[in-house]
Amino acid sequence: MFVSPQVLGTEISLLCMTGDNLEHIAIIMDGNGRWAQKRKLPRSAGHKKGAEVVKEIAKAAHEKGVKYLTLYAFSTENWNRPKDEVDTLMGLLRQYLKSDFSELHKNNIRIRFIGERECLDADIVQSMHRLEKETAQNTGMCLCLAISYGARGEIVQAAKKLASLVKKGDLSETDIDIQNFSAMLYTKDMPDPDILIRTSGEERLSNFLLWQIAYAELFFTKTLWPDFSADELSDIINQFSSRERRYGKV
Ligand code: FPP
Repeated sequence: MFVSPQVLGTEISLLCMTGDNLEHIAIIMDGNGRWAQKRKLPRSAGHKKGAEVVKEIAKAAHEKGVKYLTLYAFSTENWNRPKDEVDTLMGLLRQYLKSDFSELHKNNIRIRFIGERECLDADIVQSMHRLEKETAQNTGMCLCLAISYGARGEIVQAAKKLASLVKKGDLSETDIDIQNFSAMLYTKDMPDPDILIRTSGEERLSNFLLWQIAYAELFFTKTLWPDFSADELSDIINQFSSRERRYGKV
């Protein structure tokens, strides 16, 4: 069978994308407020549009063969925003949990959540558990939403868990290592992100996956999250495939 170089090229690049060099993309979805402000709309309109983009990007990443997509939807520091904005974000989350995620479920996407659930309303936590259970057998991409998440808090609770194992005599202090520390994090059964993207032009990590992104390739784009597209995601994936990752070696 004749295979055109273009088709072959596409297949090769698809293999690169889905190969073991790219499994996990993490995104700091920033810029909803500025997107709304530019249009003289309330900030809530930016969050609403941002939530729609979550679905688009999840589907696009799934189609590209990405195995894990982790999105920073609400940080532990975001609780300090004005009450009406927090209420808007929690309202969007409720709506997502009730209906919008069912579309992703139909697409064989597994959904999970990381973060401090004890800070969330009981009905939201219940819906999270239900959705995680319902989608647990899906074999496609895992969409992981970081909600009420903060990396420093995550690291502190991991240290406390290890300290308690040592205190009980179940672990020796000298046996504490990177592997068993990682096993105490929310992300224990996920590979570390290969790519970290932050939208909106800000170039900082804002307490997101600080342990896990030790060797992630960082991409900062000026695009505001509500304008982020599947094409831009593809472009970043292509740039990633030409980066050399040395992990400290020569
Ligand atoms: C940062 O933009 C964005 C957030 C704090 C929330 C991100 C939330 C969404 C994309 C929608 C909700 C998602 C789900 C799954 C329900 P910003 O408000 O800090 O924007 P600004 O920096 O321009 O003010």
